[in-house]
Amino acid sequence: MSFSLDHIGIAVKSLAQAKAIYEKLGLPIAAEEVVPDEKVRVVMVPVENTRIELLQATSDDSPIANFIAKRGGGLHHVCLRVPDLSAAVKRLKADGVRLVSDEIKTGAGGHRYIFIHPHSAGGVLVELVES
Ligand code: CO
Repeated sequence: MSFSLDHIGIAVKSLAQAKAIYEKLGLPIAAEEVVPDEKVRVVMVPVENTRIELLQATSDDSPIANFIAKRGGGLHHVCLRVPDLSAAVKRLKADGVRLVSDEIKTGAGGHRYIFIHPHSAGGVLVELVES
């Protein structure tokens, strides 16, 4: 069990436009998915052992819509896969690291995740998922 870069999340205005560059490069692209809880439409682009996650808002109050309004889109988060998420979160909390939510959340596919606030991570939102 080790750490790995699970994916890099990019906020985009249009999935169709954003994914075109990867299609032109000849990368295989996964089918579009909707994640209602996060109010996003997602396209995953697998790149060797990691993935690029393209995120388009499905409503104006989506976190991705807010991000695009403030920053115009681009790199939204980096996602690390960690061996023991509960232990990692406990350590981070003990060290006073700022997390976006107090508790670990459970995503659509049953995967567990939490976000580290950009203030505690060099200005970039960091998502942690469990191996
Ligand atoms: Co992500």
